[in-house]
Amino acid sequence: MAAREPGIGIFDSGVGGLTVVQRMIEALPGEHLVYLGDTARYPYGTKSAAVVSRYTLENAKFLLDTGVKLLVVACNTMSAVALDVLRAATDVPVVGVIEPGARAAVGTTRNRKIGVIGTEGTIASGSYTRALRAIDPELEIYTRACPLFVALAEEGWIDNAIAEQAAAMYLASLRQSRIDTLVLGCTHYPLLARTIGAYLGPEVQLVDSATETAREVAALLAARGLAAPSGPGSTSFFVTDVPDRFIRIGSRFLGSAVDSAVRIER
Ligand code: DGL
Repeated sequence: MAAREPGIGIFDSGVGGLTVVQRMIEALPGEHLVYLGDTARYPYGTKSAAVVSRYTLENAKFLLDTGVKLLVVACNTMSAVALDVLRAATDVPVVGVIEPGARAAVGTTRNRKIGVIGTEGTIASGSYTRALRAIDPELEIYTRACPLFVALAEEGWIDNAIAEQAAAMYLASLRQSRIDTLVLGCTHYPLLARTIGAYLGPEVQLVDSATETAREVAALLAARGLAAPSGPGSTSFFVTDVPDRFIRIGSRFLGSAVDSAVRIER
């Protein structure tokens, strides 16, 4: 029997990275995706950079041990604080979500006033500001941590009165800043896009990293001759706590059913 085609490892603190998996499946239907959600240690957004970096390396090790050919850090918090540490630790190419998100925002803005929302860890790291300024130093950048959005997305409270109030409280200063583009800098936030968009109004474009990240992965695979030969791909899911909740709420993030997930021991 032919050896199994090497997969692409994708990881997040839990279900959020499934919004990236959805776009990867669309862009790369022939690839074998291996997803790890570190559900036992979620959330990462409130944890220190040192702890998030350690978790990042441990997650990556599990995926590398399965023989993946590329790693996608489908979590803004890990991408914000641990990408360099991870790249130094492996020869396998590593794609994070911050630079793709920054590129998408710069490609969208007209007035060069960009807002960025994310977890406390992502915003405190200043990673989006650096990535945006590296592309265009003249941008006006406004940032805001919106920690409750993660819990609201997981609860499915994405368009009720509580979600609307949270959006109003978190985003009032961004609306006043007259941004025309907002980066949804957390893989949970695309679920709240309608509520966020309704509060900010039609003049503000929302961008997230998922589509641009999938595009970057496709380009990297092609450039390095690593793309899977055509044929049906697959997606397998691993978690670090009992899989029930991941399977139950994961479909909302993936856009289709998560049929099964395997728990790994930590
Ligand atoms: N999905 C994570 C991110 O993109 C946030 C969730 C968490 O706090 O673990 O930053």
